[in-house]
Amino acid sequence: MTFQPFLEAISKQIDNTIYGQHPNELYEPIRYIMSLGGKRLRPLLTALSANLFIDDWQKCLKPAIAVEVFHNFTLMHDDIMDCAPLRRGKPTVHEKWNANTAILSGDVMLVNAYELLLDVEPFQLPRVIKRFNRTAAEVCEGQQLDMNFETRSDVSQDEYIEMIRLKTSVLLGFAMELGGMIAGADEATTQLLYDAGVNMGLGFQLKDDLLDVYGDPEKFGKQVGGDIIANKKTFMLIEALLLAEGETKEKLDYWLHLEQGSYDTAAKVAAVTAIYTELGIDKIAESKSDEFFTKGFEALHNLPAAPERKKPLIEFADFLVGRES
Ligand code: IPE
Ligand code: IPE
Ligand code: MG
Ligand code: MG
Ligand code: MG
Repeated sequence: MTFQPFLEAISKQIDNTIYGQHPNELYEPIRYIMSLGGKRLRPLLTALSANLFIDDWQKCLKPAIAVEVFHNFTLMHDDIMDCAPLRRGKPTVHEKWNANTAILSGDVMLVNAYELLLDVEPFQLPRVIKRFNRTAAEVCEGQQLDMNFETRSDVSQDEYIEMIRLKTSVLLGFAMELGGMIAGADEATTQLLYDAGVNMGLGFQLKDDLLDVYGDPEKFGKQVGGDIIANKKTFMLIEALLLAEGETKEKLDYWLHLEQGSYDTAAKVAAVTAIYTELGIDKIAESKSDEFFTKGFEALHNLPAAPERKKPLIEFADFLVGRES
């Protein structure tokens, strides 16, 4: 895999990152979540984007790690919001320690992210911080919409797409744009990088929602069925609400309107999954995800860089399309 050396450099950089020392209770959960790995796709996108234009892409490593630290901060808090027991095959921080720990360690990770961003050249800093700030605020906006939607039953597909654009896609867009900015790419090019990242991010979150239902628990590393338990208004649930009729619709409404804590969660996950499968929702969601990835690939092909420079980035994007974790 041509993106392997990039991943190795990123992993090494993460291993060498110091978040803080004392008190240990604050920093230990950060070292824990960062050491659990994950795909590290955001810093990879930064490095692979910088590599399109410069040989010394290593100079984007610290800022790339900033994006990964920010991402892990959002996961720590997201897992509290989603009552998630598992992350990357291991207990979530609020389960292993407690919610207060996950809140505060997460908070200091945001500070760590800013610290790492300071590594960009001083003349680039205002633009980088401005774009990062906009992105970080949008991620919070998306997370709030995600939670608002849990208790609504009339969420449209357009609203869903806008919600995932905010909570997930803009960060992939920023990760790519950041690589371009550090490599000195012009505005039109950084915009194209951003568009590629956003479209891949939309495909990526659609796939995440699909894996949340159909993933192999061993490979996925998160609780399968968590979105169903929380009544998350995913593309799949919205589509099912549109397509279901008669008895199927009644069954779906029944499971959606049960009082939290008053039912067997495994039974709900099994029942709603069966309804999705009966309606062919898995296929529809898969092709919607592919649609966005295709747009992402189009943007990648339009980037003004030599084909051999694009190869690792395109190979990595291919890997993301087929991911199972
Ligand atoms: C999880 O992100 C949150 C989503 C946006 C779906 P990743 O799937 O990138 O998680 P890790 O970092 O690889 O564990
Ligand atoms: C989370 O979306 C996006 C952010 C963390 C901002 P999800 O809630 O679907 O992510 P997972 O499935 O827990 O990784
Ligand atoms: Mg969430
Ligand atoms: Mg979650
Ligand atoms: Mg998810």
